Amino acid sequence: MATGKSTIGARIAAGVGVPFLDTDALLAQRSGKSIGELFASDGEARFREREAELVLPMLSDLSPRVIALGGGTVTMPRVRHALLERCTLVTLTAAPETVVARVSSLRKRPNLWALSPLDRARDLLSVRHSAYAESHALVATEGQTPKQIAERVIDVAGLDTLVMPLGTRSYVVELANDEPSRLAAALAELNPSSLLVVTDQNVVAARAQWLDAALEGVGVARHTVVIKAGEVSKTLATVARIWDEALLHGLDRDAVVLAFGGGVVGDLAGFAASTLLRGIRCVQVPTSLLAMVDSSVGGKTGFDHAAGKNLIGSFFQPNRVVVDVEHLSTLPKRERAAGLAEVVKIALVRSVDVLEQLEAAAEAIACGDRAALRSVVRSAIALKINLVRDDERENGSRALLNLGHTVGHALESQGEYTRLLHGEAVAIGTCVELAATERMGLSAPGLAARARLLFERLGLPTKASPDELGSAWPFVLSDKKRSVAGLKLPVVTTAGHGAVVRVTVEHLRRAVLLS
Ligand code: GLY
Repeated sequence: MATGKSTIGARIAAGVGVPFLDTDALLAQRSGKSIGELFASDGEARFREREAELVLPMLSDLSPRVIALGGGTVTMPRVRHALLERCTLVTLTAAPETVVARVSSLRKRPNLWALSPLDRARDLLSVRHSAYAESHALVATEGQTPKQIAERVIDVAGLDTLVMPLGTRSYVVELANDEPSRLAAALAELNPSSLLVVTDQNVVAARAQWLDAALEGVGVARHTVVIKAGEVSKTLATVARIWDEALLHGLDRDAVVLAFGGGVVGDLAGFAASTLLRGIRCVQVPTSLLAMVDSSVGGKTGFDHAAGKNLIGSFFQPNRVVVDVEHLSTLPKRERAAGLAEVVKIALVRSVDVLEQLEAAAEAIACGDRAALRSVVRSAIALKINLVRDDERENGSRALLNLGHTVGHALESQGEYTRLLHGEAVAIGTCVELAATERMGLSAPGLAARARLLFERLGLPTKASPDELGSAWPFVLSDKKRSVAGLKLPVVTTAGHGAVVRVTVEHLRRAVLLS
């Protein structure tokens, strides 16, 4: 809002040689009225509709352009979300005093015509604060030359980032390719007082050099907790070790917990961060495929209990996620395949395009082809972001991500977390649940066979014997998705479309044991 976006936008466009569009100028040109006249004659609601009608069609053309938006355009969630999905959205910021000083020479800003410009600017910025926070970057304009601001925006546009839009808790998920400097840059922005790194023995053996390169120039105290690798560590005792280490070194509220590892490390570190000093910042750096595509994004944290997996935890969003696909180069093939199970799962319930992408490139993906993997990692994260954006606390559509997890978790628990990797259990669970729900008339016919074939091509197990399913069944009874009203179970109504239905545990048991 009055932060110089038209000037800066034009400068960037000229600098990189692409067209420049200014939506205020276009609206004025189309209507033959100034923005102030339009706003006054239409009223705000109609004015916003005009902006949406202008901006949304622009987004179907993905050729490079710079667009300066009106200050209120991003207050419409559907416009903001579309911009975040298809463009790099940068918010230029300035203090209310600066906005007012600039606006006095820009009398056309309609929202600032009120008699107390400073109070009006404060009100508007406060109302818009949460919408403005949902962007690929906030770039401060005060004390910066137009050249510096333009360079910063161009740098942001050159990164491969996705945004989890959760108001003032929004964060960026950045994809990189052997670039430890990206983590260093993220930490520099967060400016922590100290770092608590949580990692595991396998990750230290394979990836310590990458982390050392990233943290080399980060000039703050670093403390490290190295846990034993695997689900066996996902306990309260390990959380207590992290708490002890943090408190022993006097971590304060400006410290950052850095999760460097797979799903177990990420969930434990996230939970510790959510409880230390009632919550300190957390950066997730996933090193397994499963953590990249699923657990590092979305804020689920916690640990296992003797009664079942992930029964204790919190929703606590990280402040940044840095996904460097180079970590996949040292990931054992079995672990890579396990991560792919979560990608298939989200494609089954949310995107036939991604499902077809997986089917078209299954062998390349299974062999670890870097470009193919990066592409599916990106697709899976984008799908997950949309689910979490719309249902952070899993009251509705986020539960689709539990496809295959009711039976999968039961199989994992029954194998004492050592027989199957989580992704392997999810692959088997998805096949078993889809076959059962097809039998119950809830999932589309043929999908269980389609999913089974894809999992097999990706090198994943797909079957459990009736004995295994029978002995795993008691663990379904402690599933956290169960309530007196029944079990919330994701089904797939057509490829790429899931729904969550409620079934009784007994109904499901009969269908599972028949399949
Ligand atoms: N891993 C499932 C979720 O984040 O909801």
